[in-house]
Amino acid sequence: MIEQEKIEEIKRQTDIVDVIGKYVQLKKMGRNFRGLCPFHAEKNPSFYVNPEKNIYYCFGCKKGGNAINFLMEYEKLDFPDAIKRLAKSLGIEIDTTKGLRHKELYEANEFACQFFAQCLDREIGRRGQEYLARRNIRPADIKDFRLGYAPSSGGLVTFMRQKGMPVERLQQAGLVSANRELFRDRLMFPIFNLSGRIVGFGGRSIDDHMQPKYLNSPETPIFRKGEVLYGLYQSKERIRAKGEVILVEGYFDLLSIYQHGFDNICAPLGTSLTEQQAVLLSRFARKAMILFDGDLSGMRAALRAIGLLIDAQVDVYVAVLPENADPDSFINEQGAQALHDLLAQASDFFHFYRNAVKVDTVAQEITLIKDLIQIIGRIRDPIRYDRYLKYAAHVFEIPVETIQNEISVVSAKSEAPARAVQKPKISQEERMMAMILNGYEYFPLVREVLQPDDFSEESINRLYKKLLKEDDFDIADLSEAVDEGLREKLLSAIMRDEPVSQDSISQAIRTYKGRVQEKRLMERRNAAIKRGDEAARKEFDRELAALKRQLLNINVEKAVDSEP
Ligand code: UTP
Ligand code: MN
Repeated sequence: MIEQEKIEEIKRQTDIVDVIGKYVQLKKMGRNFRGLCPFHAEKNPSFYVNPEKNIYYCFGCKKGGNAINFLMEYEKLDFPDAIKRLAKSLGIEIDTTKGLRHKELYEANEFACQFFAQCLDREIGRRGQEYLARRNIRPADIKDFRLGYAPSSGGLVTFMRQKGMPVERLQQAGLVSANRELFRDRLMFPIFNLSGRIVGFGGRSIDDHMQPKYLNSPETPIFRKGEVLYGLYQSKERIRAKGEVILVEGYFDLLSIYQHGFDNICAPLGTSLTEQQAVLLSRFARKAMILFDGDLSGMRAALRAIGLLIDAQVDVYVAVLPENADPDSFINEQGAQALHDLLAQASDFFHFYRNAVKVDTVAQEITLIKDLIQIIGRIRDPIRYDRYLKYAAHVFEIPVETIQNEISVVSAKSEAPARAVQKPKISQEERMMAMILNGYEYFPLVREVLQPDDFSEESINRLYKKLLKEDDFDIADLSEAVDEGLREKLLSAIMRDEPVSQDSISQAIRTYKGRVQEKRLMERRNAAIKRGDEAARKEFDRELAALKRQLLNINVEKAVDSEP
Protein backbone atom coordinates (compact mmCIF):
# COMPACT_ATOMS: atom_id res chain seq x y z
CA MET A 1 0.00 0.00 0.00
CA ILE A 2 1.22 3.46 -0.90
CA GLU A 3 -0.12 6.34 1.14
CA GLN A 4 -2.67 8.56 -0.57
CA GLU A 5 -0.54 11.60 0.20
CA LYS A 6 2.41 10.13 -1.66
CA ILE A 7 0.19 9.37 -4.62
CA GLU A 8 -1.09 12.95 -4.69
CA GLU A 9 2.44 14.28 -4.53
CA ILE A 10 3.51 12.06 -7.40
CA LYS A 11 0.49 13.07 -9.47
CA ARG A 12 1.23 16.72 -8.84
CA GLN A 13 4.84 16.50 -9.83
CA THR A 14 4.38 14.34 -12.89
CA ASP A 15 4.72 16.00 -16.25
CA ILE A 16 2.69 13.92 -18.65
CA VAL A 17 4.61 15.10 -21.71
CA ASP A 18 7.80 13.91 -20.06
CA VAL A 19 6.36 10.53 -19.26
CA ILE A 20 4.72 9.83 -22.60
CA GLY A 21 7.54 11.48 -24.52
CA LYS A 22 9.75 8.60 -23.50
CA TYR A 23 7.63 6.25 -25.56
CA VAL A 24 6.03 8.40 -28.22
CA GLN A 25 7.57 11.05 -30.39
CA LEU A 26 5.50 14.09 -29.58
CA LYS A 27 5.25 17.28 -31.59
CA LYS A 28 3.80 20.48 -30.23
CA MET A 29 0.49 21.35 -31.86
CA GLY A 30 -0.99 24.48 -30.34
CA ARG A 31 -1.80 23.74 -26.74
CA ASN A 32 -1.40 20.03 -27.23
CA PHE A 33 1.30 17.62 -28.23
CA ARG A 34 0.60 15.13 -30.93
CA GLY A 35 2.11 11.82 -32.01
CA LEU A 36 1.44 8.40 -33.40
CA CYS A 37 -0.73 6.42 -31.02
CA PRO A 38 1.26 3.65 -29.33
CA PHE A 39 -1.89 1.64 -28.72
CA HIS A 40 -3.03 1.10 -32.26
CA ALA A 41 -1.40 1.12 -35.66
CA GLU A 42 -1.81 4.36 -37.53
CA LYS A 43 -0.07 6.43 -40.14
CA ASN A 44 -1.51 9.81 -39.23
CA PRO A 45 -1.16 10.93 -35.66
CA SER A 46 -4.38 11.03 -33.68
CA PHE A 47 -2.82 10.70 -30.25
CA TYR A 48 -2.88 13.93 -28.22
CA VAL A 49 -1.30 14.92 -24.96
CA ASN A 50 -2.47 17.97 -23.10
CA PRO A 51 0.10 19.24 -20.60
CA GLU A 52 -2.26 21.68 -18.88
CA LYS A 53 -4.81 19.07 -17.99
CA ASN A 54 -2.25 16.31 -17.71
CA ILE A 55 -4.23 13.98 -19.90
CA TYR A 56 -3.76 12.09 -23.14
CA TYR A 57 -6.36 10.93 -25.58
CA CYS A 58 -6.32 9.07 -28.86
CA PHE A 59 -9.07 10.02 -31.28
CA GLY A 60 -8.41 6.78 -33.12
CA CYS A 61 -8.65 4.08 -30.50
CA LYS A 62 -10.23 6.19 -27.74
CA LYS A 63 -7.66 5.34 -25.13
CA GLY A 64 -7.07 8.15 -22.71
CA GLY A 65 -6.33 9.20 -19.17
CA ASN A 66 -3.47 10.56 -17.11
CA ALA A 67 0.18 9.55 -16.87
CA ILE A 68 -0.64 6.72 -14.51
CA ASN A 69 -3.24 5.30 -16.89
CA PHE A 70 -0.70 5.57 -19.68
CA LEU A 71 1.94 3.58 -17.87
CA MET A 72 -0.60 0.98 -16.80
CA GLU A 73 -1.79 0.55 -20.35
CA TYR A 74 1.55 0.78 -22.08
CA GLU A 75 3.79 -1.08 -19.70
CA LYS A 76 1.01 -3.37 -18.55
CA LEU A 77 1.63 -2.33 -14.98
CA ASP A 78 -0.88 -2.39 -12.19
CA PHE A 79 -1.66 0.83 -10.35
CA PRO A 80 0.94 0.51 -7.56
CA ASP A 81 3.68 -0.38 -10.02
CA ALA A 82 2.81 2.54 -12.26
CA ILE A 83 2.97 4.84 -9.23
CA LYS A 84 6.31 3.36 -8.29
CA ARG A 85 7.63 3.88 -11.78
CA LEU A 86 6.64 7.53 -11.67
CA ALA A 87 8.03 7.94 -8.18
CA LYS A 88 11.33 6.51 -9.30
CA SER A 89 11.72 8.88 -12.19
CA LEU A 90 10.79 11.80 -9.94
CA GLY A 91 13.25 10.67 -7.31
CA ILE A 92 10.48 10.27 -4.74
CA GLU A 93 11.10 7.48 -2.27
CA ILE A 94 8.41 4.96 -1.54
CA ASP A 95 8.48 1.52 -0.06
CA THR A 96 12.20 1.60 0.52
CA THR A 97 12.47 -1.86 2.01
CA LYS A 98 11.34 -3.47 -1.20
CA GLY A 99 13.74 -1.48 -3.33
CA LEU A 100 16.53 -2.54 -1.05
CA ARG A 101 15.49 -6.18 -1.33
CA HIS A 102 15.61 -5.99 -5.10
CA LYS A 103 18.98 -4.35 -4.99
CA GLU A 104 20.30 -7.15 -2.84
CA LEU A 105 19.05 -9.76 -5.29
CA TYR A 106 20.63 -8.00 -8.26
CA GLU A 107 23.83 -7.82 -6.31
CA ALA A 108 23.79 -11.53 -5.50
CA ASN A 109 23.30 -12.37 -9.17
CA GLU A 110 25.99 -9.95 -10.22
CA PHE A 111 28.55 -11.50 -7.86
CA ALA A 112 27.50 -14.98 -8.95
CA CYS A 113 28.01 -14.00 -12.55
CA GLN A 114 31.50 -12.76 -11.71
CA PHE A 115 32.21 -16.03 -9.98
CA PHE A 116 31.03 -18.18 -12.92
CA ALA A 117 32.96 -16.06 -15.41
CA GLN A 118 36.09 -16.33 -13.30
CA CYS A 119 35.74 -20.11 -13.18
CA LEU A 120 35.35 -20.28 -16.94
CA ASP A 121 38.61 -18.38 -17.33
CA ARG A 122 40.56 -20.71 -15.09
CA GLU A 123 41.70 -24.30 -15.05
CA ILE A 124 38.63 -25.31 -13.08
CA GLY A 125 36.50 -24.23 -16.00
CA ARG A 126 38.28 -26.25 -18.60
CA ARG A 127 35.24 -28.41 -19.33
CA GLY A 128 33.27 -25.25 -19.99
CA GLN A 129 35.90 -23.81 -22.32
CA GLU A 130 36.10 -27.02 -24.30
CA TYR A 131 32.36 -27.23 -24.55
CA LEU A 132 32.06 -23.67 -25.87
CA ALA A 133 34.82 -24.29 -28.39
CA ARG A 134 33.00 -27.41 -29.56
CA ARG A 135 29.92 -25.33 -30.11
CA ASN A 136 31.79 -22.63 -32.00
CA ILE A 137 31.16 -19.77 -29.63
CA ARG A 138 33.65 -16.92 -30.04
CA PRO A 139 35.49 -15.35 -27.08
CA ALA A 140 33.99 -11.95 -27.92
CA ASP A 141 30.47 -13.27 -27.45
CA ILE A 142 31.44 -15.12 -24.31
CA LYS A 143 32.39 -11.69 -22.98
CA ASP A 144 29.36 -9.79 -24.30
CA PHE A 145 26.92 -12.31 -22.93
CA ARG A 146 29.03 -12.79 -19.82
CA LEU A 147 28.95 -16.58 -20.04
CA GLY A 148 30.41 -18.62 -17.20
CA TYR A 149 30.92 -22.04 -15.80
CA ALA A 150 29.60 -23.49 -12.57
CA PRO A 151 32.10 -26.13 -11.40
CA SER A 152 30.89 -29.54 -10.23
CA SER A 153 32.68 -28.90 -6.97
CA GLY A 154 30.67 -25.74 -6.37
CA GLY A 155 32.40 -22.85 -4.66
CA LEU A 156 29.85 -20.09 -5.04
CA VAL A 157 29.03 -19.99 -1.35
CA THR A 158 32.68 -19.65 -0.36
CA PHE A 159 33.22 -16.94 -2.96
CA MET A 160 30.22 -15.03 -1.67
CA ARG A 161 31.33 -15.33 1.91
CA GLN A 162 34.57 -13.64 0.94
CA LYS A 163 32.52 -10.85 -0.58
CA GLY A 164 30.64 -10.57 2.68
CA MET A 165 27.37 -11.80 1.28
CA PRO A 166 25.25 -13.97 3.59
CA VAL A 167 24.05 -17.31 2.33
CA GLU A 168 20.40 -16.29 2.85
CA ARG A 169 20.88 -13.77 0.08
CA LEU A 170 21.90 -16.58 -2.26
CA GLN A 171 18.84 -18.52 -1.22
CA GLN A 172 16.60 -15.56 -1.94
CA ALA A 173 18.21 -15.21 -5.35
CA GLY A 174 17.54 -18.89 -6.02
CA LEU A 175 21.21 -19.77 -6.37
CA VAL A 176 21.26 -21.98 -3.30
CA SER A 177 18.48 -24.24 -2.21
CA ALA A 178 18.45 -26.45 0.88
CA ASN A 179 22.09 -25.52 1.43
CA ARG A 180 23.05 -26.87 -1.99
CA GLU A 181 24.35 -24.80 -4.84
CA LEU A 182 21.82 -25.14 -7.62
CA PHE A 183 24.14 -25.01 -10.62
CA ARG A 184 26.91 -27.58 -10.93
CA ASP A 185 28.95 -28.58 -13.93
CA ARG A 186 26.90 -26.27 -16.06
CA LEU A 187 27.59 -23.63 -18.63
CA MET A 188 26.04 -20.47 -17.27
CA PHE A 189 23.98 -17.94 -19.23
CA PRO A 190 23.19 -14.85 -17.17
CA ILE A 191 19.78 -13.38 -18.03
CA PHE A 192 19.65 -9.59 -18.18
CA ASN A 193 16.73 -7.28 -17.77
CA LEU A 194 16.40 -4.24 -20.00
CA SER A 195 18.63 -2.12 -17.82
CA GLY A 196 21.39 -4.70 -17.93
CA ARG A 197 20.94 -6.08 -14.45
CA ILE A 198 21.15 -9.83 -14.02
CA VAL A 199 17.81 -11.24 -12.90
CA GLY A 200 18.59 -14.95 -13.15
CA PHE A 201 20.56 -17.66 -14.92
CA GLY A 202 20.11 -20.46 -17.38
CA GLY A 203 22.54 -23.36 -16.97
CA ARG A 204 23.24 -25.96 -19.67
CA SER A 205 24.47 -29.31 -18.44
CA ILE A 206 27.76 -30.31 -19.99
CA ASP A 207 27.42 -33.95 -19.21
CA ASP A 208 24.62 -35.12 -21.48
CA HIS A 209 23.43 -37.58 -18.86
CA MET A 210 22.74 -34.83 -16.39
CA GLN A 211 19.09 -33.83 -16.34
CA PRO A 212 17.54 -31.47 -16.97
CA LYS A 213 19.51 -30.29 -19.99
CA TYR A 214 18.76 -26.70 -19.09
CA LEU A 215 18.13 -25.47 -15.61
CA ASN A 216 16.85 -21.94 -14.96
CA SER A 217 16.93 -19.93 -11.74
CA PRO A 218 13.61 -20.20 -9.96
CA GLU A 219 11.30 -17.21 -10.10
CA THR A 220 12.17 -14.49 -7.62
CA PRO A 221 10.82 -10.99 -7.04
CA ILE A 222 13.17 -9.79 -9.80
CA PHE A 223 12.79 -12.74 -12.16
CA ARG A 224 9.58 -13.66 -13.90
CA LYS A 225 10.35 -15.96 -16.79
CA GLY A 226 7.36 -15.00 -18.84
CA GLU A 227 8.36 -11.36 -18.79
CA VAL A 228 12.00 -11.49 -19.81
CA LEU A 229 13.53 -12.29 -23.17
CA TYR A 230 17.01 -13.67 -23.38
CA GLY A 231 19.32 -11.52 -25.48
CA LEU A 232 16.97 -8.56 -25.66
CA TYR A 233 19.29 -6.43 -23.56
CA GLN A 234 22.20 -7.03 -25.95
CA SER A 235 20.11 -6.75 -29.11
CA LYS A 236 17.55 -4.12 -28.34
CA GLU A 237 19.16 -1.15 -30.08
CA ARG A 238 19.67 -3.11 -33.28
CA ILE A 239 16.15 -4.50 -33.06
CA ARG A 240 14.86 -0.98 -32.77
CA ALA A 241 17.04 0.27 -35.61
CA LYS A 242 15.98 -2.52 -37.95
CA GLY A 243 12.42 -2.52 -36.70
CA GLU A 244 12.65 -6.26 -36.84
CA VAL A 245 13.45 -9.05 -34.43
CA ILE A 246 14.44 -12.67 -34.99
CA LEU A 247 12.92 -15.00 -32.42
CA VAL A 248 14.63 -18.29 -31.65
CA GLU A 249 13.92 -20.94 -29.04
CA GLY A 250 17.22 -21.53 -27.33
CA TYR A 251 20.29 -19.97 -25.78
CA PHE A 252 22.70 -21.64 -28.16
CA ASP A 253 20.55 -20.89 -31.18
CA LEU A 254 20.81 -17.27 -30.24
CA LEU A 255 24.58 -17.21 -29.68
CA SER A 256 25.36 -19.30 -32.74
CA ILE A 257 23.62 -17.10 -35.23
CA TYR A 258 24.25 -13.84 -33.37
CA GLN A 259 27.92 -14.06 -34.14
CA HIS A 260 27.14 -14.33 -37.86
CA GLY A 261 25.50 -10.95 -37.83
CA PHE A 262 21.94 -12.02 -37.01
CA ASP A 263 22.18 -9.77 -34.04
CA ASN A 264 18.66 -8.37 -33.77
CA ILE A 265 17.56 -11.40 -31.90
CA CYS A 266 16.12 -12.76 -28.68
CA ALA A 267 14.59 -15.89 -27.20
CA PRO A 268 11.92 -16.73 -24.64
CA LEU A 269 13.21 -18.69 -21.69
CA GLY A 270 12.28 -22.25 -22.41
CA THR A 271 8.55 -21.64 -22.35
CA SER A 272 6.48 -20.64 -25.32
CA LEU A 273 6.21 -16.93 -25.95
CA THR A 274 3.93 -15.18 -23.49
CA GLU A 275 1.62 -12.22 -23.97
CA GLN A 276 3.91 -10.02 -21.88
CA GLN A 277 6.91 -10.96 -23.97
CA ALA A 278 5.02 -10.19 -27.17
CA VAL A 279 4.05 -6.79 -25.80
CA LEU A 280 7.62 -6.19 -24.68
CA LEU A 281 8.85 -6.99 -28.18
CA SER A 282 6.37 -4.63 -29.76
CA ARG A 283 8.17 -1.78 -28.03
CA PHE A 284 11.21 -2.47 -30.16
CA ALA A 285 10.05 -4.19 -33.31
CA ARG A 286 7.28 -3.79 -35.86
CA LYS A 287 8.08 -7.10 -37.42
CA ALA A 288 9.05 -10.45 -35.95
CA MET A 289 10.73 -13.28 -37.77
CA ILE A 290 10.03 -16.54 -36.01
CA LEU A 291 12.87 -19.01 -36.40
CA PHE A 292 11.96 -21.94 -34.21
CA ASP A 293 13.17 -25.53 -34.37
CA GLY A 294 12.11 -27.53 -37.38
CA ASP A 295 10.26 -30.09 -35.29
CA LEU A 296 6.63 -30.44 -34.38
CA SER A 297 6.97 -28.62 -31.09
CA GLY A 298 8.72 -25.72 -32.83
CA MET A 299 5.83 -25.58 -35.27
CA ARG A 300 3.27 -25.59 -32.48
CA ALA A 301 5.15 -22.89 -30.60
CA ALA A 302 5.19 -20.76 -33.75
CA LEU A 303 1.45 -21.16 -34.24
CA ARG A 304 0.85 -19.96 -30.69
CA ALA A 305 3.27 -17.07 -30.98
CA ILE A 306 1.60 -15.73 -34.13
CA GLY A 307 -1.62 -14.77 -32.40
CA LEU A 308 0.13 -13.12 -29.49
CA LEU A 309 2.39 -11.09 -31.74
CA ILE A 310 -0.49 -9.96 -33.89
CA ASP A 311 -2.37 -8.89 -30.80
CA ALA A 312 0.69 -6.86 -29.87
CA GLN A 313 0.52 -5.35 -33.37
CA VAL A 314 3.70 -6.93 -34.60
CA ASP A 315 3.80 -8.31 -38.15
CA VAL A 316 4.76 -11.94 -38.06
CA TYR A 317 6.79 -13.98 -40.48
CA VAL A 318 7.90 -17.54 -40.00
CA ALA A 319 11.01 -19.14 -41.44
CA VAL A 320 10.76 -22.89 -41.52
CA LEU A 321 13.87 -24.93 -40.84
CA PRO A 322 14.32 -28.46 -42.13
CA GLU A 323 12.94 -31.09 -39.83
CA ASN A 324 15.38 -32.02 -37.04
CA ALA A 325 17.33 -28.79 -37.49
CA ASP A 326 17.49 -25.88 -35.12
CA PRO A 327 19.06 -22.51 -35.96
CA ASP A 328 22.28 -23.52 -34.23
CA SER A 329 22.73 -26.79 -36.11
CA PHE A 330 21.55 -25.22 -39.35
CA ILE A 331 24.09 -22.42 -39.39
CA ASN A 332 26.89 -24.71 -38.27
CA GLU A 333 26.13 -27.17 -41.05
CA GLN A 334 25.01 -24.92 -43.87
CA GLY A 335 26.57 -21.56 -43.12
CA ALA A 336 25.32 -18.00 -42.75
CA GLN A 337 24.32 -17.49 -46.38
CA ALA A 338 21.94 -20.43 -46.21
CA LEU A 339 20.29 -18.87 -43.18
CA HIS A 340 20.02 -15.53 -44.98
CA ASP A 341 18.25 -17.27 -47.82
CA LEU A 342 15.97 -19.12 -45.48
CA LEU A 343 14.97 -15.91 -43.72
CA ALA A 344 14.43 -14.17 -47.02
CA GLN A 345 11.95 -16.87 -47.94
CA ALA A 346 10.04 -16.64 -44.69
CA SER A 347 6.30 -16.78 -45.16
CA ASP A 348 3.82 -14.45 -43.62
CA PHE A 349 1.61 -15.85 -40.90
CA PHE A 350 -1.16 -16.68 -43.35
CA HIS A 351 0.90 -18.94 -45.60
CA PHE A 352 2.75 -20.45 -42.74
CA TYR A 353 -0.46 -21.32 -40.98
CA ARG A 354 -2.01 -22.71 -44.08
CA ASN A 355 0.96 -24.93 -44.82
CA ALA A 356 1.63 -25.95 -41.26
CA VAL A 357 -1.81 -27.24 -40.43
CA LYS A 358 -2.63 -30.58 -41.91
CA VAL A 359 -5.98 -30.70 -43.62
CA ASP A 360 -7.46 -34.02 -44.68
CA THR A 361 -11.15 -33.52 -44.12
CA VAL A 362 -13.67 -30.79 -44.71
CA ALA A 363 -14.10 -30.41 -40.97
CA GLN A 364 -10.38 -29.80 -40.57
CA GLU A 365 -10.48 -27.32 -43.40
CA ILE A 366 -13.28 -25.41 -41.74
CA THR A 367 -11.34 -25.29 -38.51
CA LEU A 368 -8.29 -23.99 -40.35
CA ILE A 369 -10.30 -21.33 -42.13
CA LYS A 370 -11.99 -20.21 -38.94
CA ASP A 371 -8.69 -20.08 -37.06
CA LEU A 372 -7.10 -18.01 -39.78
CA ILE A 373 -10.06 -15.68 -40.05
CA GLN A 374 -9.96 -15.22 -36.33
CA ILE A 375 -6.30 -14.19 -36.54
CA ILE A 376 -7.01 -11.79 -39.40
CA GLY A 377 -9.72 -10.23 -37.28
CA ARG A 378 -7.09 -9.35 -34.71
CA ILE A 379 -4.97 -7.28 -37.13
CA ARG A 380 -5.46 -3.64 -36.32
CA ASP A 381 -3.65 -1.97 -39.15
CA PRO A 382 -6.54 -1.19 -41.50
CA ILE A 383 -4.62 -1.77 -44.71
CA ARG A 384 -3.09 -5.04 -43.65
CA TYR A 385 -6.44 -6.12 -42.33
CA ASP A 386 -8.13 -5.33 -45.60
CA ARG A 387 -5.48 -7.06 -47.67
CA TYR A 388 -5.68 -10.27 -45.67
CA LEU A 389 -9.43 -10.18 -45.66
CA LYS A 390 -9.53 -10.06 -49.44
CA TYR A 391 -6.75 -12.56 -49.72
CA ALA A 392 -8.51 -15.06 -47.45
CA ALA A 393 -11.70 -14.58 -49.45
CA HIS A 394 -9.82 -15.34 -52.61
CA VAL A 395 -7.88 -18.33 -51.32
CA PHE A 396 -10.78 -20.02 -49.59
CA GLU A 397 -13.36 -18.94 -52.16
CA ILE A 398 -15.58 -17.40 -49.53
CA PRO A 399 -17.31 -14.03 -50.01
CA VAL A 400 -15.64 -11.14 -48.16
CA GLU A 401 -18.93 -10.36 -46.40
CA THR A 402 -19.13 -13.85 -44.98
CA ILE A 403 -15.65 -13.49 -43.56
CA GLN A 404 -16.44 -10.04 -42.18
CA ASN A 405 -19.54 -11.41 -40.52
CA GLU A 406 -17.55 -14.19 -38.94
CA ILE A 407 -15.01 -11.66 -37.69
CA SER A 408 -17.61 -9.34 -36.25
CA VAL A 409 -19.25 -12.23 -34.41
CA VAL A 410 -15.94 -13.35 -32.99
CA SER A 411 -14.68 -9.88 -32.13
CA ALA A 412 -17.97 -8.87 -30.57
CA LYS A 413 -17.40 -11.76 -28.22
CA SER A 414 -13.87 -10.72 -27.41
CA GLU A 415 -14.63 -7.02 -27.47
CA ALA A 416 -11.94 -6.16 -29.98
CA PRO A 417 -11.35 -2.43 -30.22
CA ALA A 418 -13.27 -0.61 -32.92
CA ARG A 419 -11.33 -0.32 -36.10
CA ALA A 420 -12.91 2.70 -37.70
CA VAL A 421 -11.97 6.18 -36.60
CA GLN A 422 -15.25 7.86 -36.01
CA LYS A 423 -16.18 11.01 -34.29
CA PRO A 424 -18.42 10.31 -31.35
CA LYS A 425 -21.78 12.03 -31.46
CA ILE A 426 -22.02 14.32 -28.52
CA SER A 427 -25.18 15.73 -26.99
CA GLN A 428 -25.61 19.25 -25.70
CA GLU A 429 -25.53 18.03 -22.14
CA GLU A 430 -22.35 16.10 -22.73
CA ARG A 431 -20.77 19.08 -24.38
CA MET A 432 -21.69 21.30 -21.45
CA MET A 433 -20.27 18.76 -19.05
CA ALA A 434 -17.03 18.56 -21.04
CA MET A 435 -16.70 22.30 -20.74
CA ILE A 436 -17.38 22.22 -17.03
CA LEU A 437 -14.62 19.68 -16.59
CA ASN A 438 -12.34 21.55 -18.94
CA GLY A 439 -12.73 24.72 -16.91
CA TYR A 440 -13.03 23.01 -13.57
CA GLU A 441 -11.36 25.93 -11.81
CA TYR A 442 -14.53 27.93 -12.53
CA PHE A 443 -16.82 25.35 -10.98
CA PRO A 444 -17.88 27.71 -8.16
CA LEU A 445 -19.41 29.87 -10.87
CA VAL A 446 -21.14 26.95 -12.53
CA ARG A 447 -22.75 25.61 -9.39
CA GLU A 448 -24.39 28.99 -8.81
CA VAL A 449 -26.32 28.68 -12.05
CA LEU A 450 -26.87 25.05 -12.92
CA GLN A 451 -28.98 22.64 -10.90
CA PRO A 452 -28.84 18.87 -11.20
CA ASP A 453 -32.30 19.08 -12.78
CA ASP A 454 -30.83 20.96 -15.68
CA PHE A 455 -29.26 17.73 -16.82
CA SER A 456 -31.85 15.24 -17.93
CA GLU A 457 -29.45 12.59 -19.21
CA GLU A 458 -29.05 10.08 -16.43
CA SER A 459 -25.28 9.65 -16.48
CA ILE A 460 -24.56 13.37 -16.87
CA ASN A 461 -26.99 14.11 -14.09
CA ARG A 462 -25.22 11.64 -11.84
CA LEU A 463 -21.80 13.03 -12.69
CA TYR A 464 -22.95 16.58 -12.01
CA LYS A 465 -24.25 15.58 -8.58
CA LYS A 466 -20.90 13.99 -7.90
CA LEU A 467 -19.15 17.22 -8.85
CA LEU A 468 -21.42 19.13 -6.49
CA LYS A 469 -20.58 16.77 -3.68
CA GLU A 470 -16.83 16.57 -4.15
CA ASP A 471 -14.41 19.36 -3.50
CA ASP A 472 -11.70 18.32 -5.82
CA PHE A 473 -12.59 16.23 -8.81
CA ASP A 474 -9.77 14.85 -10.95
CA ILE A 475 -10.42 14.25 -14.63
CA ALA A 476 -8.27 11.18 -14.37
CA ASP A 477 -10.86 9.67 -12.03
CA LEU A 478 -13.57 9.87 -14.66
CA SER A 479 -13.29 6.17 -15.28
CA GLU A 480 -14.74 5.53 -11.86
CA ALA A 481 -17.52 8.05 -12.24
CA VAL A 482 -18.95 7.29 -15.67
CA ASP A 483 -19.02 4.46 -18.14
CA GLU A 484 -16.38 3.91 -20.79
CA GLY A 485 -18.37 5.43 -23.65
CA LEU A 486 -19.11 8.66 -21.86
CA ARG A 487 -15.59 8.94 -20.55
CA GLU A 488 -14.26 8.69 -24.10
CA LYS A 489 -16.64 11.35 -25.33
CA LEU A 490 -15.81 13.74 -22.53
CA LEU A 491 -12.06 13.26 -22.80
CA SER A 492 -12.21 13.67 -26.54
CA ALA A 493 -14.20 16.89 -26.25
CA ILE A 494 -11.90 18.27 -23.58
CA MET A 495 -8.93 17.53 -25.78
CA ARG A 496 -10.45 19.31 -28.79
CA ASP A 497 -11.93 22.29 -27.03
CA GLU A 498 -10.37 25.66 -26.58
CA PRO A 499 -9.15 26.52 -23.12
CA VAL A 500 -11.94 27.79 -20.94
CA SER A 501 -11.92 31.34 -19.64
CA GLN A 502 -14.17 32.82 -17.03
CA ASP A 503 -16.00 34.69 -19.77
CA SER A 504 -16.50 31.78 -22.06
CA ILE A 505 -17.79 29.50 -19.35
CA SER A 506 -20.16 32.00 -17.78
CA GLN A 507 -21.65 32.71 -21.18
CA ALA A 508 -21.85 29.05 -21.96
CA ILE A 509 -23.72 28.20 -18.80
CA ARG A 510 -26.15 31.03 -19.35
CA THR A 511 -26.80 29.86 -22.88
CA TYR A 512 -27.20 26.34 -21.68
CA LYS A 513 -29.52 27.39 -18.90
CA GLY A 514 -31.54 29.43 -21.39
CA ARG A 515 -31.90 26.41 -23.64
CA VAL A 516 -33.12 24.28 -20.79
CA GLN A 517 -35.68 26.94 -19.83
CA GLU A 518 -36.72 27.26 -23.42
CA LYS A 519 -37.31 23.56 -23.66
CA ARG A 520 -39.41 23.58 -20.50
CA LEU A 521 -41.43 26.53 -21.70
CA MET A 522 -42.04 24.83 -25.03
CA GLU A 523 -43.36 21.77 -23.27
CA ARG A 524 -45.73 23.83 -21.16
CA ARG A 525 -46.81 25.86 -24.20
CA ASN A 526 -47.60 22.68 -26.10
CA ALA A 527 -49.57 21.37 -23.16
CA ALA A 528 -51.53 24.65 -23.09
CA ILE A 529 -52.35 24.32 -26.78
CA LYS A 530 -53.59 20.78 -26.16
CA ARG A 531 -55.83 22.03 -23.36
CA GLY A 532 -57.06 24.83 -25.63
CA ASP A 533 -55.86 27.41 -23.09
CA GLU A 534 -55.26 30.35 -25.45
CA ALA A 535 -54.32 32.84 -22.69
CA ALA A 536 -51.67 30.55 -21.29
CA ARG A 537 -50.26 29.96 -24.77
CA LYS A 538 -49.91 33.72 -25.32
CA GLU A 539 -48.17 34.13 -22.00
CA PHE A 540 -45.73 31.32 -22.83
CA ASP A 541 -45.09 32.86 -26.25
CA ARG A 542 -44.19 36.15 -24.60
CA GLU A 543 -41.84 34.41 -22.18
CA LEU A 544 -40.29 32.48 -25.01
CA ALA A 545 -39.69 35.63 -27.01
CA ALA A 546 -38.03 37.27 -24.02
CA LEU A 547 -35.85 34.27 -23.53
CA LYS A 548 -34.86 34.30 -27.21
CA ARG A 549 -33.83 37.94 -26.93
CA GLN A 550 -31.82 37.15 -23.88
CA LEU A 551 -30.16 34.24 -25.63
CA LEU A 552 -29.38 36.42 -28.62
CA ASN A 553 -27.79 38.90 -26.30
CA ILE A 554 -25.56 36.32 -24.88
CA ASN A 555 -24.70 35.52 -28.46
CA VAL A 556 -22.11 32.96 -27.68
CA GLU A 557 -23.90 29.91 -28.86
CA LYS A 558 -20.62 28.81 -30.32
CA ALA A 559 -19.14 28.27 -26.93
CA VAL A 560 -21.44 25.41 -26.20
CA ASP A 561 -22.73 24.35 -29.53
CA SER A 562 -20.12 24.38 -32.19
CA GLU A 563 -18.48 21.21 -33.39
CA PRO A 564 -14.72 21.57 -33.67
P1 UTP B 1 16.07 -27.42 -26.88
O1 UTP B 1 15.86 -28.75 -26.25
O2 UTP B 1 15.65 -27.20 -28.29
O3 UTP B 1 17.58 -27.17 -26.69
O4 UTP B 1 15.42 -26.33 -25.95
P2 UTP B 1 18.61 -26.37 -27.58
O5 UTP B 1 18.38 -24.93 -27.45
O6 UTP B 1 18.68 -26.95 -28.92
O7 UTP B 1 19.89 -26.68 -26.74
P3 UTP B 1 21.18 -27.39 -27.19
O8 UTP B 1 21.49 -26.87 -28.54
O9 UTP B 1 20.92 -28.85 -27.14
O10 UTP B 1 22.14 -26.96 -26.15
C1 UTP B 1 15.22 -25.02 -26.33
C2 UTP B 1 15.19 -24.15 -25.12
O11 UTP B 1 14.24 -24.62 -24.19
C3 UTP B 1 14.70 -24.42 -22.87
C4 UTP B 1 16.02 -23.72 -22.99
O12 UTP B 1 15.79 -22.32 -22.91
C5 UTP B 1 16.49 -24.12 -24.36
O13 UTP B 1 17.44 -23.24 -24.90
N1 UTP B 1 14.87 -25.70 -22.13
C6 UTP B 1 15.16 -26.84 -22.80
C7 UTP B 1 14.75 -25.70 -20.79
O14 UTP B 1 14.48 -24.67 -20.15
N2 UTP B 1 14.94 -26.87 -20.09
C8 UTP B 1 15.27 -28.03 -20.73
O15 UTP B 1 15.47 -29.07 -20.07
C9 UTP B 1 15.36 -28.01 -22.11
MN1 MN C 1 20.28 -26.99 -30.25
